[in-house]
Amino acid sequence: MPTEPAEQPPLINLVDPELYAKGDPFIQWRWLRSHQPVYWHAPTEYPGFWVLSRYEDIRAAYRDAATFSSAQGILLRPESHGADPGGGRTLALTDPPRHRQLRGLIDKWFSVRSTRAMEQDVLSVVRRVVDDALEQETCDFVTDVAARVPLYVICKMMGIPSGDWEKLFMLTSDAFGAGDPLTRRLAHLDILNYFEALQVDKAKHPADDLVSVLATASTDGEPLSPDDVILNCDNLLVGGTENTRIATAGGMLAFLRHPDQWQILADSPDLLPTAVEEVLRWTSTATHIMRTATRAVEVRGHQIAAGDRVTFWLPSANRDESVFSASDQFDIRRQPNRHLALGFGEHFCVGSVLARVEMRLLYNELLSRSVHVTLDGAPTLLSSIVVNGPECLPVRMTAF
Ligand code: HEM
Repeated sequence: MPTEPAEQPPLINLVDPELYAKGDPFIQWRWLRSHQPVYWHAPTEYPGFWVLSRYEDIRAAYRDAATFSSAQGILLRPESHGADPGGGRTLALTDPPRHRQLRGLIDKWFSVRSTRAMEQDVLSVVRRVVDDALEQETCDFVTDVAARVPLYVICKMMGIPSGDWEKLFMLTSDAFGAGDPLTRRLAHLDILNYFEALQVDKAKHPADDLVSVLATASTDGEPLSPDDVILNCDNLLVGGTENTRIATAGGMLAFLRHPDQWQILADSPDLLPTAVEEVLRWTSTATHIMRTATRAVEVRGHQIAAGDRVTFWLPSANRDESVFSASDQFDIRRQPNRHLALGFGEHFCVGSVLARVEMRLLYNELLSRSVHVTLDGAPTLLSSIVVNGPECLPVRMTAF
């Protein structure tokens, strides 16, 4: 009897940004999940790192924040870039107990109750953005729709004067867009400078907003240093905008490619909550999250040394066939759907409730106004190892 030829391992290179713009990373992730779920990725311009690709392994590591630390950074950085300047200082880049202190300062702003109280404001933003998009014959759904909603909402929460929202919109587009590295770096510096001035003003005249909270906060009887305030403001602005923009647009693209699912939603809008969960799972916009081992630890027989970088590939976890039935199907009725798109454990996304509300209200607005969205050109995908999804989604939007 002839035997089945062994499956050829694909070349594993998860740090090539073009893989996410033009290739199919799922080929590598699928192979890793089934053959080498704990994989040592050899050094390139990035130092070597461990790759975790299975759902359960990632969840277990997420649960153990004492062993898998965030304080040295949560994203792979080329060796030449040195240490992350936010390491040990921002919400995302600290470990307990410091992390809990920082999170305690802002947690209640993102609670279910506070977010519910903000729904009307979010809805006004959504309506304004959809109205503006409908006025144009064609638009880029990423920039003109998906990016504006979370940016305006987080600007409002942070107490950024509305006259500055457009400026912040341009700066975040430049800082996290597809431009050249120098433009990106300069725009990011402008954002940090903006927060430097704003926090001085808010410390003198505090109001009911997030920047005032940080600018007047004390932990262990000590005020946050101005640099810590600025870095945490930056963390909130980036966290609040980037992933939501890409997930919302990625969801729209998924609906355009699966019109039956959009139709099901149009017929049964009560499915919006499960649809949003499926969009989050399907888009998994945070491509990888990194931790640094604080001690030697064994995972599936592999010896991870203290100081080793360990990466979690969230889109891979969210397609793990041992957890999600028909994991490669986009199914808005999927339940249960315990995806890891928003992380898990100690650093679970602080904006998770808000992101869900923003996405639900936007899709609902399109459905309830019977807005017909069609592709008006080929979408392009981001060339990045950090976030994945549409960079540009040209569409025609018409209301009937
Ligand atoms: C679809 C939208 C979003 C996705 C996919 C997403 C994804 C994530 C993920 C995966 C993490 C965990 C990082 C880790 O494990 O180290 C995280 C944390 C975080 N997210 Fe989100 N996020 C989204 C929306 C938001 C929004 C709207 C905000 C609003 C401010 C936000 C702010 C943050 C912050 C500040 C953290 C750090 C939390 C901590 O370390 O305690 N995110 N997010």
